[in-house]
Amino acid sequence: MKHLIVYAHPNADSFNHAILETTAAALKANGDEVVVRDLYALDFQPVLKPADTEAMKAGQTPEDIRVEQQHISEADTITFIFPIWWTGLPAILKGYVDRVFAYGFAYAYGAAGIDKLLTGKKGLIINTHGTPKEIYDQIGMTAGLKITSDIGIFDFTGIEPVEHLLFGGVPAIGEEALTDILRQVDERVRTVFA
Ligand SMILES: Cc1cc2nc3c(=O)[nH]c(=O)nc-3n(C[C@H](O)[C@H](O)[C@H](O)COP(=O)(O)O)c2cc1C
Repeated sequence: MKHLIVYAHPNADSFNHAILETTAAALKANGDEVVVRDLYALDFQPVLKPADTEAMKAGQTPEDIRVEQQHISEADTITFIFPIWWTGLPAILKGYVDRVFAYGFAYAYGAAGIDKLLTGKKGLIINTHGTPKEIYDQIGMTAGLKITSDIGIFDFTGIEPVEHLLFGGVPAIGEEALTDILRQVDERVRTVFA
């Protein structure tokens, strides 16, 4: 199996980076191939510009978008790892979705509704956030975050959302709890795509 991880965090010493390393190692432990696209390291340009739209309409996909689309096409699974920023995706990842999950590549408007062009792939999302989990569960934010990404992005394009892990209170929960999160990530990732 071939796994694509799309990772969005600016700091290499962040907890999200530890989650990235744990996730990649767990997938590789199964003997699978793992490709990581670190959007900050790539300095990915996230703004969908008029020139992008014009080029894609003319069938000339800009090179940086084409490269990312190729990674998606070759992958059996797609994993997004990112911190929740302002109750959603960090701008660099939102922009990646805007530009790479493009019309005609990820979806199209068909006679019977939306054609889901990435059907057959499986999706996993791993998030951290600062607000305690209990509060986000209680106010409906956890459910909202799941709907907008799992359904709004993955299912919309045909990617089957198989798991969405959200870990709250991350800046304040302490070393022991963080280690336990990495243990949970390792345990879940090893079997999530089986
Ligand atoms: C720009 C920015 C926006 C944030 N927005 C939220 C938010 O909407 N909800 C929340 O619970 N935490 C928010 N946070 C906190 C981060 O989610 C939290 O610090 C991060 O998940 C911890 O992981 P890290 O140590 O890998 O950065 C925000 C942090 C930043 C820098």
